Amino acid sequence: MNPHRAPAAGCAILLLPVQMFRLEQATMSQSSLPRLGFIGAGRLARCLALSFSRAGYPVTAVTSRTAASANRLAGQIAHCAACDDPQQVADAADIIFLAVPDDHIGSAAHTLRFDPATATSPRKALVHCSGASPVELLAPARDQGAAIGGFHPLYLFGGDLADLERIAGCSVTIEADGALKDALTALAVALRCHPLSIPAGGRMLYHAAAHYAASFALCSLAECVALWRTLGFAEDDALRALLPMLAGTIETARDKGLPNALAGPVSRGDTGVVEKQLALLEGLGGDHAALYGLLSRRAVGLAERRATPPAAIEAIAEAVEESLNRSLNQAAAGASVK
Ligand SMILES: NC(=O)c1ccc[n+]([C@@H]2O[C@H](COP(=O)([O-])OP(=O)(O)OC[C@H]3O[C@@H](n4cnc5c(N)ncnc54)[C@H](OP(=O)(O)O)[C@@H]3O)[C@@H](O)[C@H]2O)c1
Repeated sequence: MNPHRAPAAGCAILLLPVQMFRLEQATMSQSSLPRLGFIGAGRLARCLALSFSRAGYPVTAVTSRTAASANRLAGQIAHCAACDDPQQVADAADIIFLAVPDDHIGSAAHTLRFDPATATSPRKALVHCSGASPVELLAPARDQGAAIGGFHPLYLFGGDLADLERIAGCSVTIEADGALKDALTALAVALRCHPLSIPAGGRMLYHAAAHYAASFALCSLAECVALWRTLGFAEDDALRALLPMLAGTIETARDKGLPNALAGPVSRGDTGVVEKQLALLEGLGGDHAALYGLLSRRAVGLAERRATPPAAIEAIAEAVEESLNRSLNQAAAGASVK
């Protein structure tokens, strides 16, 4: 990757509106942008490669485990070669995205050869897109003179064209230094995303926590569906009722922040309702009450962050802790629903 060819975008770019940057970038010639290559042509690669190409970046080469995947993606991008071998991608691009399942990142990085004489002029870069795996997995490339980094879009890719629009407004977490950091920041902005920096070594905690805004939000919905099923609600009906409420909650959180968006009995200080719901769920057995109790503990924490917390918040906190004392052992015995 050649820092002189990469779009100039340091920390200051974070302050620029995305549209302004795109306008500036649109006036740059394609030859001033780094050539991009993809190893792996799955859900993430399809969105990134097409989006970068549409933003004016030269996406020069794609390979995948199967020729069919590589051909399908390369066929959608002008002047992009479908390659048989990852090394051909490494040779044809300045920034190479390793977009393979996490378990294959290390082995794929090991197979690539960077000529130390040419890897630094222009400087090549190898980047993976995992949120959890360490960038250090790419160390074999660094040892041969290439820059290494992480580029993790905080977005759940569906694998179809809808991703290209839906990814706008998301964040991309970048772990890199120097010119590569600048180049990856510019690429995040080209996706109409917000660049987010992460310190080295922080990825596993960062990724574990991010589940709460993606898969675990789905798990919360699944718990509600399971409990409503005992009342005779079908899953489709339940989701039709729940998803608009979730969408509204997200909008309120965006407008007011987490403590002020909190609703429900903890937020209102309705101790009686909290106690009755905890007792009801304890009566159902399994881990229902423990899950509800642990999330209620977080709700108490949010309510306490308000300028004026509910007067009954201490009584509610006590009721939640007493219920957790009873329910956590029971939860350890096994899940209520699969
Ligand atoms: N999906 C998401 O929502 C998401 C979000 C953020 C980050 N990520 C990260 O993005 C990376 C890719 O995930 P994904 O969801 O795109 O996975 P995916 O849809 O399963 O695609 C993986 C791709 O890698 C190819 N592949 C598998 N093993 C390979 C190997 N040894 N050499 C070359 N290609 C290989 C597959 O080939 P074939 O198609 O030819 O079988 C497939 O095209 C992962 O690190 C993941 O953590 C994913």
